[in-house]
Amino acid sequence: MTQTLTLRRPDDWHLHLRDGAMLQAVLPETARHFARAIIMPNLVPPVVTRADATAYRGRIMAALPADMRFEPLMTLYLTEDTDPADLAAAAESGLVKAVKLYPAGATTNSASGVKDFDKVRPVLEKMAEIGLPLCVHGEVTDADIDIFDREAVFIDRVLDPIRRANPALKVVMEHITTKDGVEYARAGGDTLGATITTHHLIINRNHMLVGGIKPHYYCLPVAKREVHRLALRDAATSGDATFFLGTDSAPHIDPLKENACGCAGCFSATNTLSCLAEVFEQDGALDKLEAFTSLNGPAFYGLPENEDTIILTKGDPVTYPAKIDTDDGPVTVFDPGFALHWQVQA
Ligand code: DOR
Ligand code: ZN
Repeated sequence: MTQTLTLRRPDDWHLHLRDGAMLQAVLPETARHFARAIIMPNLVPPVVTRADATAYRGRIMAALPADMRFEPLMTLYLTEDTDPADLAAAAESGLVKAVKLYPAGATTNSASGVKDFDKVRPVLEKMAEIGLPLCVHGEVTDADIDIFDREAVFIDRVLDPIRRANPALKVVMEHITTKDGVEYARAGGDTLGATITTHHLIINRNHMLVGGIKPHYYCLPVAKREVHRLALRDAATSGDATFFLGTDSAPHIDPLKENACGCAGCFSATNTLSCLAEVFEQDGALDKLEAFTSLNGPAFYGLPENEDTIILTKGDPVTYPAKIDTDDGPVTVFDPGFALHWQVQA
């Protein structure tokens, strides 16, 4: 007997689509399964203004194959020069659904990020007033803070003060990677949500470093110790409405990953739902998968749940391409390191 699982169509609350040839190649990988995604603004140059977001949305829709439906939920990249009025207009028009805070230098293309948090106070106040969520890359960038501690230190030094100063501001802790992040998010009440990636549910730092360095497992925030991965699994599979899927699927061409100074990012759009079904089944929590992929995110963002459904079927190990081709070069698909048995029906 075939086992099947029907889910409300999922959304991805943290996605990198890039631009140009890369956008063309990766967009169908997401649009095949997901109805909507929060689109990261860390292009070069970044998506900073309402006009930038309008233009980028246009390029995304132009790249969407004619037989696919997909709604990009646009974001603005917060800089020290962001104009609160432009941001409010972008939100009120329905174009922009969140604002992204990158501490300057924290990750790929984050040079325009925020150095002095006092400078963005008026913007954050405006966002709290209009109910526009702040998506946070939660890592400090101080050279003296160990890379494995940067998330926990960010919570104490930056996130908690921002939230105390703006209790009404809705905040998403993006791609949390630690037990500290899980605990802070869990205690945060209605104004705090947290996304968890597919790959952080599957790999810890040993997967990346033991037996030779695996550049395709390098991402930011970097994967942590096993105890942290287990805390993330526990959070994602609990059904707690605080936690929802943000894949952080972040394509880079292989020559830039397999490099003496390799880029951060795991590309998981292609097989994310197969990976997640396997993970939730391993934890005896298939009944909680829909909350994580399809219900908790819209509830946090105040958006309707998707009307249609997808069906996953369980069978022989699923095959999927190890790489996808782009006109810029190949992109390696995330390898969970175990067989996948659940497949989304076409
Ligand atoms: O691994 C990552 N890749 N983390 C980020 O924060 C950025 C992303 C990217 O844009 O490649
Ligand atoms: Zn990201």
